[in-house]
Amino acid sequence: MFDGMTLPKTVTEETVLSVHHWTDELFSLRVTRPMSFRFRSGEFVMLGLMVEGKPLLRAYSMASPSWDDGLDFYSIKVADGPLTSRLQHVKEGDSILLGKKPTGTIVLDALEPGRRLFMLSTGTGVAPFASLVRDPETYERFDEVILTHTCRNVADLAYSRSFVEALKDDPLVGEIAPERLTYYASTTREDFAHKGRITDLIASGRLFEDLGQPPLDPAGDRVMICGSMAMINDTRALVEAAGLTEGSNASPGAYVVEKAFAD
Ligand code: A2P
Repeated sequence: MFDGMTLPKTVTEETVLSVHHWTDELFSLRVTRPMSFRFRSGEFVMLGLMVEGKPLLRAYSMASPSWDDGLDFYSIKVADGPLTSRLQHVKEGDSILLGKKPTGTIVLDALEPGRRLFMLSTGTGVAPFASLVRDPETYERFDEVILTHTCRNVADLAYSRSFVEALKDDPLVGEIAPERLTYYASTTREDFAHKGRITDLIASGRLFEDLGQPPLDPAGDRVMICGSMAMINDTRALVEAAGLTEGSNASPGAYVVEKAFAD
């Protein structure tokens, strides 16, 4: 409990259910979900701690689907980051602050109907896709889903490899996801089966060759992009060059973007 502290009206106090450290720099946590907390898979919300009597909050994507009882989050640890330097030390049973108003554009509603859905991510930008790949609606709306995750090193892929591997045991998408989802991981600074930035892999056509699939086609392809600002801008340029136009909640389109949040 954040004893004796007045919580702002915009947050609720939740309890940490579990924490998993994937590498020295990456961890995930699961927290309680209030009954009143509604969101669409892929959205983000403010998450944080009371620090010196004040709330310290940052935006985090929900990494669990909208039907799940708990809420998962995936975070980088920034040594001098005001929040993550503290958040990385939370333990089961600790209190945590959760915003009341989830929002975001990496949602199925912001995309026009299509056949193939690409989810392109780097680093912690994979978090909203951890949510969407477990949502049955993803497979109701798209025949094929391709999730790409690019990180510097192989160890940084542990989280995505793990949640993709766990899909076969998922209570709702356990049958459909393994059939319809293709996971494509690449690294940029260490040897691995697939090497290179997602932008280079798209521009060279290598991604599509490796997948044995045709290149981007605005008629049937939809794309979700989540990574650093630079990754988003470079990927956006490629997707636009292929003829896709950006969508939003107000006006669905062929692709959507969200910045991966970090300290
Ligand atoms: P690289 O190693 O070539 O910089 P970061 O940890 O810096 O957020 O990077 C995560 C991954 O995103 C890395 O593999 C990195 O590749 C890649 N990346 C960084 N900038 C871009 C960009 N502008 N376009 C595509 N990928 C990028």
